[in-house]
Amino acid sequence: MVALRRLLLLGGSGRLGSHLRRAAGDDLRVAVAAPSRDELDLETASQEELDSLVGSGLYDVVLNCSAIALVDRCETERALADRINGVVPGMLATAAAKADVPFVHISTDYVFGGEAAPVGPFAETTPVGPAQYYGVTKAAGEEAVLAVPGRRTVARVSWLFGDGATPFQDYVLARARSLSEVPLLDQASRPTWLPGLSLWLLNLAAALQEGAFAPNILHPAGGPAATRHEWARAILDAHGLADVPTVPQTVESAPLAPRPKDTRLDARRTDAWIEATWGATLPDWREMVERAAR
Ligand SMILES: NC(=O)c1ccc[n+]([C@@H]2O[C@H](COP(=O)([O-])OP(=O)(O)OC[C@H]3O[C@@H](n4cnc5c(N)ncnc54)[C@H](OP(=O)(O)O)[C@@H]3O)[C@@H](O)[C@H]2O)c1
Repeated sequence: MVALRRLLLLGGSGRLGSHLRRAAGDDLRVAVAAPSRDELDLETASQEELDSLVGSGLYDVVLNCSAIALVDRCETERALADRINGVVPGMLATAAAKADVPFVHISTDYVFGGEAAPVGPFAETTPVGPAQYYGVTKAAGEEAVLAVPGRRTVARVSWLFGDGATPFQDYVLARARSLSEVPLLDQASRPTWLPGLSLWLLNLAAALQEGAFAPNILHPAGGPAATRHEWARAILDAHGLADVPTVPQTVESAPLAPRPKDTRLDARRTDAWIEATWGATLPDWREMVERAAR
């Protein structure tokens, strides 16, 4: 009989967190506790509070999806981004190590793409080099987690999309319908399907609970890397808008924080570890774009 996994999920109200709760809800072997911000405000929580929560004996695995994930917001609210993205992950890793509970922290492809790391694909072991403050704080969070010895791992994820409304898809379809063209930044990364990523993370949690020793950093990805134009093309084709062109976005509508041109993650080491651990890698994002449109 497979033991029940009791998962403590931080950031359970967010995009990834909501998909994880849904995936866990479909799996009778997983019980999730996801404290809301009212129950646990990570901006003000002390190390003692986190130690007592994680060390309560109620949880088998801790998964941190909490973040200030809006890239432009991190430019204007730097102290908050420092705290939630940069400091809290290390506090959670410390609490998990004290309780001898495995800890998974979610990071981002945006730790790459700056001057120090301008061209991918980036392996799990490539030194980071972010292009904007969001990436700086997320890189600090990774470092803080990995400084804590214990059963902890960082999963870098990129360009998340689900079956329902997704900011990028909404943008592409709205521009296609209103402008008859879709202006896009010159960027490349790896689109990642949220339901598949959620299952992947639940499998990771199970493997860690059962004693697997994970690498420091994992790159979950399914299907090839893509440019924004290729991702948008797949969305347009799947929605019967194949004749709408994608065009370069002009400087006037550029976002506040610099966006990296290339943050493609190389997932080969991660895939090899997964094959040897639980076997199922992520589905190809192109098939999932089509499925999401049906
Ligand atoms: N979305 C993407 O395409 C993408 C790409 C690459 C990497 N990532 C990474 O994936 C992870 C999840 O991202 P996401 O898109 O799911 O983010 P999100 O939707 O913005 O969710 C962030 C979560 O953090 C929580 N949070 C923020 N401040 C908090 C505080 N003071 N106390 C308690 N909880 C707090 C939020 O709670 P509230 O609901 O109370 O605000 C929310 O549950 C992040 O590590 C992000 O860096 C995301």
